[in-house]
Amino acid sequence: MRIKSMIVWVLLVILLGLCAIPTHEQRQHNALKKLLKVKRSHGIKPTQWSSSSHLSPHHDEELLQKEKDRIEALPGQPSNVTFQHYSGYVTVDSNRGRALFYYFVEAIDDHSTKPLLLWLNGGPGCSSLGYGAMLEIGPFRVNPDCRTLSVNPYAWNQVANTLFLEAPAGVGFSYSNTSADYKENGDKRTAEDSFAFLVKWFERFPQYKHRDFYIAGESYAGYYIPELADTILNHKNKSADWFINLKGIMVGNGIMNAETDGRGMDDHVWTHALISDQTYEALKTYCNYSTEAPVSPLCDRFENKTAEEIGYIQDTDIYAPVCMQSSSSPHNLTTHSESNHASNGYDPCGEKYLYSYLNNPDVQSAFHANITTLPYPWDFCSDIVSPDTWKDSPWSMLPIYNNLIANGLQILIFSGDVDIVVPVTSTRYSINALKLPIESPWHPWMSDGEVGGYSVVYKGLTFATVRGAGHQVPTFQPARALTMLNSYLQGKPLPLSKHS
Ligand SMILES: *[C@@H]1O[C@H](CO)[C@@H](O)[C@H](O)[C@H]1NC(C)=O
Ligand SMILES: *[C@@H]1O[C@H](CO)[C@@H](O)[C@H](O)[C@H]1NC(C)=O
Ligand SMILES: *[C@@H]1O[C@H](CO)[C@@H](O)[C@H](O)[C@H]1NC(C)=O
Ligand SMILES: *[C@@H]1O[C@H](CO)[C@@H](O)[C@H](O)[C@H]1NC(C)=O
Ligand SMILES: *[C@@H]1O[C@H](CO)[C@@H](O)[C@H](O)[C@H]1NC(C)=O
Ligand SMILES: *[C@@H]1O[C@H](CO)[C@@H](O)[C@H](O)[C@H]1NC(C)=O
Ligand SMILES: *[C@@H]1O[C@H](CO)[C@@H](O)[C@H](O)[C@H]1NC(C)=O
Repeated sequence: MRIKSMIVWVLLVILLGLCAIPTHEQRQHNALKKLLKVKRSHGIKPTQWSSSSHLSPHHDEELLQKEKDRIEALPGQPSNVTFQHYSGYVTVDSNRGRALFYYFVEAIDDHSTKPLLLWLNGGPGCSSLGYGAMLEIGPFRVNPDCRTLSVNPYAWNQVANTLFLEAPAGVGFSYSNTSADYKENGDKRTAEDSFAFLVKWFERFPQYKHRDFYIAGESYAGYYIPELADTILNHKNKSADWFINLKGIMVGNGIMNAETDGRGMDDHVWTHALISDQTYEALKTYCNYSTEAPVSPLCDRFENKTAEEIGYIQDTDIYAPVCMQSSSSPHNLTTHSESNHASNGYDPCGEKYLYSYLNNPDVQSAFHANITTLPYPWDFCSDIVSPDTWKDSPWSMLPIYNNLIANGLQILIFSGDVDIVVPVTSTRYSINALKLPIESPWHPWMSDGEVGGYSVVYKGLTFATVRGAGHQVPTFQPARALTMLNSYLQGKPLPLSKHS
C-alpha cells in the first residue's frame, strides 16, 4: 500500500513535473501528542532511567567510509556552496543489521576549530533530516518547485559544525534488517543506539574527537537529549581514553515532566484565548496530571472539547498561516500573503515541498540513502516507529537534569512562546519544579535591535523564551534562534538592551 502510493508519487513527479503532494503525513507534534496519551493511559511503562551500552569501533573501515559519504552536490543545490557535507549510514548493531542515517554539514568557515553540534528531533519517530536539517537549522530550504534548493541565511553552520541523526531505526532513512527491531524501540534503545552511532561516527571523522560538543533539539528530544547526555557521562567515567567532549545541551520546546507539562498546557491555551472559561474550569476539575492518577473519562472528554474549541490552526504556532491546497488543482499550494510571518521567510507549505524532494530517487542517491532494503518511503515521522509500540519513557526528566547540572554541563532550555504542543507555560512550571536558585532574574534579551525574548538565569541552567516563535523555534524565528545559539556557544549571556 505504502510502496504503491510511493510509486504513484514518483510517477507524478516524472510525468507532470509537479511536486508530489502527499495525502497523509505524520507530524512531530501529532506523534508527541499520541505518545503522551498512550503514556497517560499507562500503555507505556513509566521506566526509571538507567543507561548502559558498549563500545566497539572499527577505525580503518570508518575512515574509508568518510570519503564515500561526502556529498558531491544535492540536486538543485545552489552553485556557490563552499562547505563540505556528508551523509550515510553508521551500523549500530551488525548482528541484526541495524544502521542509523546521518547528515553532517561542516561550518562555512573555520570548521577545524568551530564546535560540533548534534541536532535531534522528537516524535518519537520523527526525522532530524526533515525537520532539523531541511526546515530548521540546516544550510538549505527546498523551493516551491520541490526540485531546487535555496540558501538558508540563518543556517547554524555559520557558527558550528552541525550533525543530524535519524534515530531510532525506522525513522527517516534509518533501518534495520531485522524487522522485529522496529517493535523494540523506546527511550533506552534510542539512547544506546545514538551513543553507539556517535562512537563510530567519531572514528569516521576523527578530527572532531575532543572538539567541544553540544547536543540540541526539540519536542520529544526533550527526553532524547538529556538521556543521551546522561549515557555519554556514564561512559566517560569508565574510559581513560575518552574523546566525546560533551560541553552542554540546548532543548527547545521539549517535554520535561508529565505533571507540570500537562498543567501548563491547559493554562497556556486558556490564557491565549483559545478555549472557553467553562472548558478551562472543567479541565482544572477533572484532569489530574500527576503520574499515578489514571486519566478519567471526564478529563478525556474535556480534552477533546479543547481540540474542538481551538479549531483548525497550527498548534505548532497558533498565529502562523496554514498551507492551503487549491481544490481545483491539488498540486497548487497557496498561503495567505498577509501573513505576519512572511518577513521571516516562513512558508507553511514548506513541508510539502520537502516531502516531495526527499522522496525523489535522485535526491536519495545524492544523500547515499538509496538502499533497496528500505521498506518504506521517507517521511517526517515514521509509521513503523509508533507510540503504540514504544517500550519505555520515564515520567520525568527532572532527576536527569539534576545529574547533568551536577556534572557541570552548560544547559539552555529555550521555548518559542506561541507553541501549544509543548507551551512555554509547561516549560516554566517544569523548570520551577527543579527549584534552582535564581542568579539573574527575568529580563528581556535582544536580537537585531528588538526584544528577542525573555530569560532567567538559574544556577546550573538558563531559560530563554523566543518571542513569536512556534514549536520549531528556528523555523519560525530564525534570526532570534541564531542570536541565541551564538551567545550560548560563546558561553556568554544573551544580549542585553543598552538602555536597560
Ligand atoms: C550563495 O549565493 C546566495 C545568493 O545567490 C547568497 O545568499 C549566499 O549567501 C551565498 N552562499 C555562500 C555560501 O556564499
Ligand atoms: C542490510 O541488508 C542489506 C542487503 O543484504 C545489506 O546490503 C546491508 O549492508 C545490511 N545492513 C546492515 C546494517 O547490515
Ligand atoms: C563521574 O565521576 C565523578 C567523580 O567521581 C562523579 O562526581 C560523577 O557524578 C560521575 N558521573 C556520573 C555520570 O556517574
Ligand atoms: C492527583 O492524583 C494523585 C494520585 O492519585 C493525588 O495524590 C492528588 O491529590 C491528586 N491531585 C488533585 C489536585 O486532585
Ligand atoms: C476523545 O477523542 C478520541 C479520539 O477522537 C476518542 O477515541 C475518544 O473516545 C474521545 N473521548 C471521549 C470521552 O469522548
Ligand atoms: C493556484 O491557485 C491560486 C489561488 O486559488 C490562483 O490564483 C492561481 O492562478 C493557481 N495557480 C495555478 C498554476 O493553477
Ligand atoms: C544508489 O545510487 C548510486 C548513484 O546513483 C548507484 O550507483 C547505486 O547503485 C544505487 N544503489 C542502490 C542500492 O540503488
